[in-house]
Amino acid sequence: MNQVESLYIHVPFCATKCHYCAFNTYDFHKEQARQYLEALLIEMELYRLDSDGLKTVFIGGGTPSILSAESLERMFKHLHAVFEVNGAAEITVECNPGTVDRQKLELMRSEGVNRLSFGVQAMDDATLEQLGRIHTVDEVLRSYDLARAVGFDNINLDLIFGLPNQTVEGWKDCLKEVVALQPEHISAYSLMLEEGTVFYESWRTGKLQRLSDEIEAEMYHLAIDTLVRHGWKHYEISSFAKPSCVANHNLAYWDNRSYIGLGPGACGYIDGVRYSNIRGVRDYAEFLKQGRKPIADSEQLTGRDEKAETIILGLRKRDGIRRQDYRRRFGESIEDEFEDVLNKWIGRDLLEWKGENLRLTRRGLFFANEVFVDFL
Ligand SMILES: C[S@@+](CC[C@H](N)C(=O)[O-])C[C@H]1O[C@@H](n2cnc3c(N)ncnc32)[C@H](O)[C@@H]1O
Ligand code: SF4
Repeated sequence: MNQVESLYIHVPFCATKCHYCAFNTYDFHKEQARQYLEALLIEMELYRLDSDGLKTVFIGGGTPSILSAESLERMFKHLHAVFEVNGAAEITVECNPGTVDRQKLELMRSEGVNRLSFGVQAMDDATLEQLGRIHTVDEVLRSYDLARAVGFDNINLDLIFGLPNQTVEGWKDCLKEVVALQPEHISAYSLMLEEGTVFYESWRTGKLQRLSDEIEAEMYHLAIDTLVRHGWKHYEISSFAKPSCVANHNLAYWDNRSYIGLGPGACGYIDGVRYSNIRGVRDYAEFLKQGRKPIADSEQLTGRDEKAETIILGLRKRDGIRRQDYRRRFGESIEDEFEDVLNKWIGRDLLEWKGENLRLTRRGLFFANEVFVDFL
């Protein structure tokens, strides 16, 4: 019997590439999408025995909603045929505003999808254009209203702040508009300049300026204060949820639990082994045609790796890591291996013990990555 309760499926297609995005995605082509789907269905079979009941499924991307209703239907039918999906499972699909219609949304609902995540990013057209998004604010509103009309009552909206030329006032307006929509969940990410993106090239050649850390921190804390004041719980560095609407799938990552990852470039974590798939669609499909798992890299984590990852992922949660959870998992206390790191960052006011929980301080939330690298 296997304990894997979470499944991630990567859909590696988008209408176009956004200027900031380094995820494993390719421009959508019908024939390639067909090849991908055939391969994905085989890949599902190869992981059939790794789970005896899924509690969370996340179809992400890329832009899963760019697939046709027929393709989505085949994907879901096969998913339910191959895996036992718990009746109360959280099933999320990432959607790009402007790529959903009533038929697709109704189909998703009838296949058990009960959570949608829309990449909104910004709430003004000039910024959306600067980001290379394919949609306008109007399309965000239309897609969101349609999802509500079809009956989705658990919706996440993704936002990005710290954009070139963005002002604190502009970000404040964006938050205000998103608050008015009352989504159950909001993810607010600070812009990461990723190599290979349009933004990165513009920055490298001096055409794009990064905001200062001070302004970015101000924007981050503005998001926290605004969303908490309006009833969202800040439960992870970038995540905010209305009561009982936390993202259970993401919690599996942050608790460092096992999950199956399917699709080109997807990562998974099964029986202490982290693996990542071949990124290119053609090679991915070729492996599966031969009945082979399309794994590019895999690594059995050592005890220390697993401890460090459990701490880094756990500290992403606002409540951090419970002393007794760590002890139950590893049979020792966090201090046994990491006392020096703890002392360093507690001394610098980026980490703290709050009761029995080790967590980032409010200041530490913004500088989390500096703390994290020290555990490695
Ligand atoms: C991989 S995307 C998939 C969602 C969907 N394709 C969309 O964009 O509508 C998930 C989220 O990651 C965030 N993201 C992607 N690249 C980022 C970057 N360089 N910096 C910050 N956030 C980023 C965006 O908010 C995006 O909605
Ligand atoms: S942000 Fe979303 S839509 Fe844009 S390229 Fe990345 S995955 Fe595709």
